[in-house]
Amino acid sequence: MRQKETLRYDQTLFRDREVFEFTFVPDQLNHRDAQIRELALLARPAVRGGSPRSAILRGPPGTGKTTTVHRLFAEIEEATQRIVPVYVNCQQHRTPFAVFACIYEKLVGYAPPSAGRHLDDVVGSITKRLGDRNAALLVCLDDANYLHEARHLNDLLYRLLRLYESWDVRKAGVFAVLSDLSLNLAAEVDAQVRSVFHPTEVFFQPYAKPEIREILEGRIRQGLYPNVVSQANTALIAEIAAQEQDVRVGIDLVRTAAERAESDGRRTVTRQDVMAASRSVITPTLQKRAADLKEGERALLSRIAEMARDTGADMTSGAVYEAVQGYAVSSETTYRTRLKRLEEAGLIDLPLRTDRGRTREVLLRFTPEQVLAVCEPRGKTGAA
Ligand SMILES: Nc1ncnc2c1ncn2[C@@H]1O[C@H](COP(=O)(O)OP(=O)(O)OP(=O)(O)O)[C@@H](O)[C@H]1O
Ligand SMILES: [Mg+2]
Repeated sequence: MRQKETLRYDQTLFRDREVFEFTFVPDQLNHRDAQIRELALLARPAVRGGSPRSAILRGPPGTGKTTTVHRLFAEIEEATQRIVPVYVNCQQHRTPFAVFACIYEKLVGYAPPSAGRHLDDVVGSITKRLGDRNAALLVCLDDANYLHEARHLNDLLYRLLRLYESWDVRKAGVFAVLSDLSLNLAAEVDAQVRSVFHPTEVFFQPYAKPEIREILEGRIRQGLYPNVVSQANTALIAEIAAQEQDVRVGIDLVRTAAERAESDGRRTVTRQDVMAASRSVITPTLQKRAADLKEGERALLSRIAEMARDTGADMTSGAVYEAVQGYAVSSETTYRTRLKRLEEAGLIDLPLRTDRGRTREVLLRFTPEQVLAVCEPRGKTGAA
C-alpha cells in the first residue's frame, strides 16, 4: 500500500550510497579499540627506528578485521614516514610476485613493468626505496589463507621476513589476517620461517546484538536521510544480522530494504521491505532447510513462529502442544515426530529445561519473522 508521502521521481533516500559498499571504511570504528591498540603497539617500535612486530588477526567473517587494518594503516600513514604500511588482498594477489608487486606499487607509485621483470629485481627496487627513506615495511596479508592454499605462504613469509638479512633494511612486520579459526599458521610454516616469525595472536570476537545494532545505526545515519528506517526496523535488522552472526548481512539488508522503498516511491522503509530484503539476503539457508518439510511440519513451524513472535509466550514443549493441538497436529505422537523433524532440519532447538522438571523448550534458530516469511513465501508477513 502506498503511503501518503511519496517520493518524487528525482528524489532519493540515500544520502551516500558508498556507505553500503563492502569496501567502505567507516569514519568511526567502534568496539575494536582493544585490537587497534594492540596492533598499534606492535607497529610502534618502527617509529623509533626499530622493526615492527608481526601478528595474526583472527576472527570469523564480518568481525571487522579488514576494516581495522585499513583504519590503523591510514593512521600510521598520517602519523609517520618511518613505516610503510602495505595492504594486500590475498584473494586477488596469490603469488609472492603479486604481493611484492603490491609493495613496489605502494613505494614507487606505479606497478612494476611486468615484462621480463624478475622477482629479485622487484625486491631490489623495494629495498633500495626503503633504505633511502629509512622506513620499515609493514605488510598486511589479508585473507592469507588463500596464499596458504596456493602453497605460497611459506615462501612469501620467508622472503619478507628475511629481507633484512640480505639487504640493508630493517626487519619487516607481517599482519596475517585469517577468518579460518582452525588454521594454525605456526604449525604450517617450516622451521626457517618459524624462527623469524613470532606473531602475536589478535582475536576479533563476533559482535553481540547491541554492537551490531550500533554499527547499523551509524551506517544508517551516514548513508540514509533521517527517519528512513525506524528504530523498530533497525532492531529487526540487527536481530536478523545477529542471528546470522554477520554484521555484513545487516548492512546489506539496510541497503536492499531502502532500495525497495525507494523504487516503490516511499519515504520510509517498512517492515515488509526488511522482510523482503531478508529473503534475498539471508533466507537461502533457511529456505534450503524448510524446503523439504512436509505440509504438516511446515504448519507446525509456522505456528511456533507465531507464538515466538508474541513475546512472553510460554515456549515449553507442553505449552506449544496445547496451542497446536487439533490445529497443526492430530496427536501428541505426531506432534513429537514433527518437532523432532524440525530439530533435525536445523530449524529449531529443543534444549532441556531444568527449572521445571523435565521439560523441553522450543526455540527457533531464526527470527520468527524470517521463519514466517519462508512458511508463506508470497504471504502477508509482518502484517501483525
Ligand atoms: N566496528 C565496526 N564499526 C563499523 N563498521 C564495521 C565495524 N566492524 C565491521 N564493520 C563493517 O562490517 C563489514 C565487515 O567488516 P570487515 O570487512 O572488516 O570484516 P572482516 O572481519 O574482514 O570479514 P572477512 O573475514 O569476511 O573478510 C564492513 O562493511 C565494515 O565496514
Ligand atoms: Mg576481511
